[in-house]
Amino acid sequence: MKRLDDFRMRMGNTNLVPIMIGGMGVDISSADLALEAARLGGVGHISDAMIKTVTDRRYKTKFVKAKQALYKYVPETDDKSNVKFDLDHLAEATRLHVERTMSRKTGSGMVFINCMEKLTMNAPKETLKVRMASALDAGIDGITLAAGLHLGSLALIEDHPRFRDVKLGIIVSSLRALQLFLKKNARLNRLPDYVVVEGPLAGGHLGFGMDWAKYDLATIVAEIISYLANEKLDIPVIAAGGIFTGSDAVRFMEMGAAGVQVATRFTVTKECGLPDDIKQEYFKASEDDIEVNEISPTGYPMRMIKSSPGIGDGIRPNCEAYGYLLDNNGRCAYVTAYNREVAAHPGEKRISVMDKTCLCTHMRNFEIWTCGHLTSRLKDTTLQRADGSYQLLSAQHVFEDYQFSTNHQIRLPEPEPVAASEVAEAAGTTA
Ligand SMILES: Cc1cc2nc3c(=O)[nH]c(=O)nc-3n(C[C@H](O)[C@H](O)[C@H](O)COP(=O)(O)O)c2cc1C
Repeated sequence: MKRLDDFRMRMGNTNLVPIMIGGMGVDISSADLALEAARLGGVGHISDAMIKTVTDRRYKTKFVKAKQALYKYVPETDDKSNVKFDLDHLAEATRLHVERTMSRKTGSGMVFINCMEKLTMNAPKETLKVRMASALDAGIDGITLAAGLHLGSLALIEDHPRFRDVKLGIIVSSLRALQLFLKKNARLNRLPDYVVVEGPLAGGHLGFGMDWAKYDLATIVAEIISYLANEKLDIPVIAAGGIFTGSDAVRFMEMGAAGVQVATRFTVTKECGLPDDIKQEYFKASEDDIEVNEISPTGYPMRMIKSSPGIGDGIRPNCEAYGYLLDNNGRCAYVTAYNREVAAHPGEKRISVMDKTCLCTHMRNFEIWTCGHLTSRLKDTTLQRADGSYQLLSAQHVFEDYQFSTNHQIRLPEPEPVAASEVAEAAGTTA
């Protein structure tokens, strides 16, 4: 019986363990998590979502304050087109996060950055160009283009000296999206180094409509592999979404995939950027606790735990400080929904906005708990403590479980040492 370690993922001249840990914004796929994947010979992702917030937190910069200080809040306007990002600050923040991460890299694997096109940042082209170019300047191994068709993204960096050497890949959810991407970029004479095919069971935003349940990852992967073979295009295909065990992964490798991208199982690792109490919410979630809804202002459906505090919350938008989802015209669907509710409930201190969420503020504060469809199985991957909480895992443990397990088995962690005070409490004595 095969295990994932029987395969290797070829990326240029490098042979990798065929495990990619997917990008999870905002800083959920932390540098620590990505670096573990690289150390163990696979690929990890950091994310550039809300990069200024991330560097302020991690490296004590003051980018968010600096932006906020420039703009005065005008409550009733839907038009925030004046609230622009300082491109020099954006470049500085991106370089800082990437440089600090890459300087700690060990092992034979790679660290990529996840770049979502839907972070339109009130100037889609200009900001995306800066984000990608600064990541390249700072030595990132690869860029994964996500959350968007990215028809013009590669052209934005075609003059960068690293354009031909860095690994560049795209996440697609259909053959059609891949075909469009290849067609639009044919002029550049530079094929992507990999394609992540993400199915409907993934976490984060989905590349499907609300009819996502009609689709199946294996069918889309097979279709894309056969298309690439017919076209004689040698692009590694990486399957993603709902791959929960090493054996699930082997199934895709046997179909001809070059690797798998996984994320949900790493949300409950020590290295993951979620606060520990929220990791417990992920462990506790049952199937009925998870939904796909349309509250993200990006327009894409998003999967999350129903009890996420950000759902229905009518917080005042703070585009002056954040504003990552403002479109080319300075608008965000949440701002419009919020202003509508304020106008409908004059004088009310606390309003509720049910149809959209303030994704910047809530992702920043870890109040939208986005997750994969199989999150309800996380509790079966660890041990429960005497107080009912679940033991966190190490990223190495989960990575190696994918790499070496057979027969859909999931290896449980060693029990963690129990503190003397807890032993005494259980025995009814004082420590
Ligand atoms: C908490 C969480 C956050 C995510 N955020 C992003 C993101 O910011 N960008 C992105 O392209 N994909 C995002 N994803 C999708 C993952 O990168 C990955 O492709 C997918 O979840 C793999 O499926 P799995 O979670 O079932 O293993 C996220 C997934 C999770 C679980």
